Amino acid sequence: KKDQFVLGIETSCDETAVAIIKNGREIAANVVASQIESHKRFGGVVPEIASRHHVEQITIVIEEALNRANLTFSDINAIAVTEGPGLVGALLIGVNAAKALAFAHGIPLVPVHHIAGHIYANRLVTELNFPLLALVVSGGHTELVYMKEHGHFEVIGETRDDAAGEAYDKVARTLNLPYPGGPHIDRLAAEGSPNIDLPRAWLEEGSYDFSFSGLKSAVINTVHNAEQRGEIIAPEDLAASFQASVIEVLVKKTEKAVAEYGVKQVVVAGGVAANKGLRAALEKAFSEKESIELVIPPLSLCTDNAAMIAAVGSIMFERGIRADLSLNALPGLDI
Ligand code: KG4
Ligand code: ZN
Repeated sequence: KKDQFVLGIETSCDETAVAIIKNGREIAANVVASQIESHKRFGGVVPEIASRHHVEQITIVIEEALNRANLTFSDINAIAVTEGPGLVGALLIGVNAAKALAFAHGIPLVPVHHIAGHIYANRLVTELNFPLLALVVSGGHTELVYMKEHGHFEVIGETRDDAAGEAYDKVARTLNLPYPGGPHIDRLAAEGSPNIDLPRAWLEEGSYDFSFSGLKSAVINTVHNAEQRGEIIAPEDLAASFQASVIEVLVKKTEKAVAEYGVKQVVVAGGVAANKGLRAALEKAFSEKESIELVIPPLSLCTDNAAMIAAVGSIMFERGIRADLSLNALPGLDI
């Protein structure tokens, strides 16, 4: 049987990413051009700047991916592209590049949901084993997603306000740490102790929803109140306390959903899955449950990349899912 190559394109936020996946699960190339340096001084992603960088980078990154995989367009069986959700101007660059290439080379075009991509990053680690539960924790999303088969996504809980990564970034800003703040809080938390009392948002009994805005406000208030009293709170203790609250809620709700839905596998997805404290807490929670396999992708596959988009694209391509040249960016797309 001939090898199948799917080229993935991801431009939903501030990474211009192109990857090539061989036979659904093997990474032939995975190129990410990060724009973080350009957005840092603004304390967050500036949509207009993101779009301009994507325009500058996209053809270079595509060429680099083909070179690294030692392939040409004649070897590519499908082009998978993130159609949403994300920043509309940023998404449009990837969507239009994908359409142009599909048209020029006569290659099938496959639309991919960004969060499906984060979940399928796990398929580059090991085969997905259904039914599974995905804990999606990124800068824009915090969701528990139940999957009974490929392409079936049931959101059983989601954040009602801030995403976990967003809370990390806002708390980091309060502590004067650079953007994106998640990795800095993670590093500080390891040096501190969680001795500051902060709330945990459990919400109603039985709910798998999340809420992080109250926690974020509690952190900000704690800092302000201390300042007014002329005290200084150790930032590492605040980071550790904040992180402990986030992790406790994420892990407990995941454990509960795993039991209720009787899943075989738990997969973790999104930028916050790079968090050392969360990884350790999940490993501890699931290490004794032999019937449940916990999968956490390596750091490079947790944050935005195109390998995950091509991984979804490979499955969808096999299932006959196609987009035509009217494909548009869908910034608010539901999974
Ligand atoms: O999935 P992602 O790369 O982009 C989105 O689709 O949102 O996630 C980015 C988010 C940022 O909020 C960043 O602060 C957070 O992931 N993040 C972390 C860590 N590494 C990245 N949060 C906590 N701990 C980390 N180690
Ligand atoms: Zn993402």
